[in-house]
Amino acid sequence: MHDILVIGAGIAGLTVALKAAENGNSVLLLTKGGKPDGSTNYAQGGIASVTLPEDSFESHIADTLEAGDGLCNKKQVEILVKNAPEAIEQLLKWGVNFTTIKNDENSFSLHLEGGHSFRRILHTADLTGKEIMRALLSQLKFRSKGIDFLEHSTVLDLITKKINGKLRCIGAIVAEKNAKKAKAIYAKTVVLATGGAGCLWLHSTNPPDACGEGISMAYRAGAACQDLEFMQFHPTSLYAPQLKKTFLISEAVRGFGGILKNSKGEEFMNGVHPLRSLAPRDIVARAILREMQRTGKDCMYLDVTHRKAKDIKTYFPNIYAKCLDCKIDIAKDWIPVVPAAHYMCGGVIADSYSRTTIKGLYACGEVAATGVHGANRLASNSLLESVVFSLKACEDINKTLGMGYKIWGIKNNSQLSTLNSQLTVNFKKLKKEVKTIMWEHCGIVRSTEGLKIGMEKLLKLETHGCFELRNFLDCAKLVVECALKRKESRGLQCLTDYPEKKAKYLKHFKIKNARNR
Ligand code: FAD
Ligand code: SIN
Repeated sequence: MHDILVIGAGIAGLTVALKAAENGNSVLLLTKGGKPDGSTNYAQGGIASVTLPEDSFESHIADTLEAGDGLCNKKQVEILVKNAPEAIEQLLKWGVNFTTIKNDENSFSLHLEGGHSFRRILHTADLTGKEIMRALLSQLKFRSKGIDFLEHSTVLDLITKKINGKLRCIGAIVAEKNAKKAKAIYAKTVVLATGGAGCLWLHSTNPPDACGEGISMAYRAGAACQDLEFMQFHPTSLYAPQLKKTFLISEAVRGFGGILKNSKGEEFMNGVHPLRSLAPRDIVARAILREMQRTGKDCMYLDVTHRKAKDIKTYFPNIYAKCLDCKIDIAKDWIPVVPAAHYMCGGVIADSYSRTTIKGLYACGEVAATGVHGANRLASNSLLESVVFSLKACEDINKTLGMGYKIWGIKNNSQLSTLNSQLTVNFKKLKKEVKTIMWEHCGIVRSTEGLKIGMEKLLKLETHGCFELRNFLDCAKLVVECALKRKESRGLQCLTDYPEKKAKYLKHFKIKNARNR
């Protein structure tokens, strides 16, 4: 029996758990894998916050709105940017060590990334996410009271109940690893912090648990979702077919002076965008794809050989070492790169306190659509969004828990009886089919015809009643449904048959499960 059930232990879930426990609430924190899992652990570039005296909130806000291509919620962007210094302060209090420059003030080392007008990315070398997870998990260990942590526990479904005529989320159905039966866990408040959905695509920078399950579960429970058509493809993942897991080459490498080239050394970003190699991600990803198709090559190249080897190793030790493992010395060789699915801009609609459209259910981190990213996310705004809006959620939860909410259970929950027999299905093959469909029909460049074919293929797939698989497949269908609604090209949605932006599409397509059980 806990006040708060937090689903997911990345930066968003951990921030909620730690802050809520500091506020005196009891928390049960669940994660699908073993800690640390989730995308947070892989974040490289860093976390954006206005730091330099010549920089300003107005500039960070303007850059975020520019990237979002007309679809950001300005009020939410203002909250994001203006609360960034407080979010950084909180991370520092929890023991995160950002890289500093050895000067009198020990100021933070600041990276520059695509779309940012100033250096404003705080980082820990190129292992920012790892350092954040280390610090937050050690805080968790240090706290002996207030937080219970269950690993290897997959949430399959949310539990809702009509209370005083209003739908309320009162818990979740959870399957522990190797358990034959799922169980119902009830809490006064549920926080969804399940991360993104990059693994719906064949090539992705995300870890395997980023499957959009939180989106499917929230949608099925009746929460409104939006902007799922906006999957951000990172332009530069390492092209190394021998690797089992895709590896990211941070955008900060281009901020450091990295130049994109084709195999002949031609700088193909010239003439594509005034910022050339440091143009926004969507533009670079499409240009790389175009150049690969034009030249018939499997990859393009990122060249940092003009920078000193010592500096490369200081700023990017992890990238340097990983490439060297693949027999690429980036101080001497060009880095082979290809785009890969990276960040889900849309998700479960969440307001300025991370409240979804269902009472008692909050969405924090990548699973949420707070409106700050619009049609395209500005680099390094997502770790920031996770901290800012998780702290806002805690403010609201603290207030509402004080109003005397109780734990509502359901006797003989029928969701449990449908699930218990379905925990053992092997779904590797089907997942691969979904990923291939998404890559081929709902990728970096799409067409209405291709999306329709993709949807037909998805509709034919059978999940054999397995809920985890159903969540995976449902999210893929929701993404294609959103992509089919937006008959224009804007931000990350690039449709060959509707290549222009249209004023009438300057809006979000909210999707909501009519069943609303
Ligand atoms: P995650 O960190 O992904 O955590 C999700 C958690 O939910 C995990 O614990 C997972 O196990 C759990 N979970 C999922 N489904 C279930 C389920 N059904 N039941 C139980 N638990 C579940 N952003 C930046 O701002 N700056 C960067 O430099 C940056 N670099 C990146 C580099 C890489 C390679 C990647 C992949 C992403 C990067 N991003 C970056 C994006 C950023 O890392 C993520 O958006 C952010 O970490 C998301 O945090 P989160 O807490 O929402 O989710
Ligand atoms: C990167 O380091 O390129 C990733 C940054 C981000 O996704 O915000």
